[in-house]
Amino acid sequence: MSISIKTGADIEGMRLAGRFASEVLDYLTPHVKAGVTTEQLDRLAHDYIVNEQGAIPAPLNYQPPGYTPYPKSICTSINQQICHGIPNDRALKNGDILNIDVTVIKDGWHGDTSRMFVVGDASIQAKRLCQITYEAMWRGILKVKPGARLGDIGHSIQTFAENAGYSVVREFCGHGIGSKFHEEPQVLHYGRPGTLEELKPGMIFTIEPMINAGRREIREMPDGWTIVTKDRSLSAQWEHTVLVTDTGFEVLTLSAGYPPLPDFVTAALAA
Ligand code: MF3
Ligand code: CO
Ligand code: CO
Repeated sequence: MSISIKTGADIEGMRLAGRFASEVLDYLTPHVKAGVTTEQLDRLAHDYIVNEQGAIPAPLNYQPPGYTPYPKSICTSINQQICHGIPNDRALKNGDILNIDVTVIKDGWHGDTSRMFVVGDASIQAKRLCQITYEAMWRGILKVKPGARLGDIGHSIQTFAENAGYSVVREFCGHGIGSKFHEEPQVLHYGRPGTLEELKPGMIFTIEPMINAGRREIREMPDGWTIVTKDRSLSAQWEHTVLVTDTGFEVLTLSAGYPPLPDFVTAALAA
């Protein structure tokens, strides 16, 4: 097994899938407010994905070995939920933070992206966790270029998150992506510089750090999917699908409604 290298038409397909995944989040954004249930968000996302572009929500009935089929079209992970939260009839309430993770299959190609949303006025601590996690993801992305290694990405995310007083979830990671939802390589969000696989132009993978306000240990809920922090501390996650280009990276999951880039990203891109 090895890491696939995408070329011409593959990359163009991945660009369209990636942008559409991000547009689904743009579309959901005004609906994310107190009183809305995550099931309503799931329905909105499902219908938009299917009707707007004739695409497929990749999570629906997705079944990795050892899992039951995932029952919904998006993942919604609230507060102490780390990832894979299943939309249900629980209404969002003021102060909640939640991750919405969208993966579409468009013309056979997968686009995978997630963002944090803050419902009404959240605590300063909750907002800081979302912001630090966002910056941590971008610090990982900025490491992406030919010749760099996966360990550089993980190290950059880990040092930034831990210096902020947070912990990095180890059991889940980013992943290669293309005609399959999850391919090689695994993209760990911790590690040592100069280690692991060397990046080459045409590789496409996600970077999707899960950062806990407290300890890094996780617990799986009885539904077989939802992962929560063992100490019940808040957790945040952001995700992009990223292409290794000849000179650096291209983020495939951007769209018109994407939140502002951190200043250090704008500065790095201008340099
Ligand atoms: N979108 C998640 C990821 O980033 C995977 C969700 S699997 C599901 O890899 F079945 F829960 F949808
Ligand atoms: Co992913
Ligand atoms: Co995802």
